[in-house]
Amino acid sequence: MMILFLSLIFLAAIVVFIFKFATADGDFTLLSKGPAKREEVQGKVVWITGASRGIGEILAKQFASLGAKLILSARNEAELVRVKNEISGSHPSVGVEVLPLDLGSDEDSVRKAVEKAESFFGGAGVHYMVHNAALERPKRRALDEPVENLEATLKINVLGTITLTHLLAPHMLKRGRGSFVVMSSAAGKCPAPGQAIYSASKHALNGYFHTLRSELYQKGIAVTVVCPGPIETSKVSEASSSGQKGSSEIGENRLDAAAAKGNTYSWKLFFGQKKKST
Ligand SMILES: NC(=O)c1ccc[n+]([C@@H]2O[C@H](COP(=O)([O-])OP(=O)(O)OC[C@H]3O[C@@H](n4cnc5c(N)ncnc54)[C@H](OP(=O)(O)O)[C@@H]3O)[C@@H](O)[C@H]2O)c1
Repeated sequence: MMILFLSLIFLAAIVVFIFKFATADGDFTLLSKGPAKREEVQGKVVWITGASRGIGEILAKQFASLGAKLILSARNEAELVRVKNEISGSHPSVGVEVLPLDLGSDEDSVRKAVEKAESFFGGAGVHYMVHNAALERPKRRALDEPVENLEATLKINVLGTITLTHLLAPHMLKRGRGSFVVMSSAAGKCPAPGQAIYSASKHALNGYFHTLRSELYQKGIAVTVVCPGPIETSKVSEASSSGQKGSSEIGENRLDAAAAKGNTYSWKLFFGQKKKST
């Protein structure tokens, strides 16, 4: 009787697990982490680059709902102010600072931005640095990509992001705590046809930040590298600028987004497809 009872519980657990997996829309890793932990974020200073739209904007709003203090960066100041105003409207007690920053600018400008970010909120310092900004160009075959595109993408996605890290990490090390969250991509893990340079930039970030983690994890600095597949964010941006309620889920309809963006992630790409014999 006891065995039958345990078997039924086991079977029910498997059914629930399969149901959750089938409805998770590919977010298996997130599923295993459970809901966001408010206590890890509340009152902490979170600096987000690329916060003027897309995933960065959604992240800023989610962090605000968890009680974080926010620093919003991107080039477009007017859009950052819009995001700030929307956050202040829905979460009046949340502190939000706008800090315009071009990741393609020189080291001195990035250093000034770091000093400013460290001084906000009574000099609390940055707890979480979310490296989200990136340049993603329309799809083009690797050999058709002009050299100047290669330079611009690597300058913003890789050099700018690493320079910012390089200048901010010593402040975190002095405090003995801090966290880098890096928005990489599935294109940083596997071949992404039409996105060779973008993919190269994400592979470079993965290499740098996994190594940084290995060097700093015993000194109180955490590094998280996130590698999402295609995400449809335009619906959210359009909805928010038109004042309507958009999708609140990051990663909603991921498979549809992949299809719409024409992205192909497949094991076949690792090994190459055999050419059909004629
Ligand atoms: N959407 C996807 O399907 C997907 C999938 C996997 C990974 N990701 C990654 O997720 C992150 C966000 O993607 P997204 O789709 O939300 O991108 P997005 O809508 O194109 O937004 C990019 C953000 O980066 C900022 N940015 C661009 N160039 C910059 C520069 N030179 N200096 C500072 N900020 C700059 C932009 O603001 P300004 O123009 O105002 O500077 C904007 O806020 C990116 O790292 C992307 O690679 C996206």
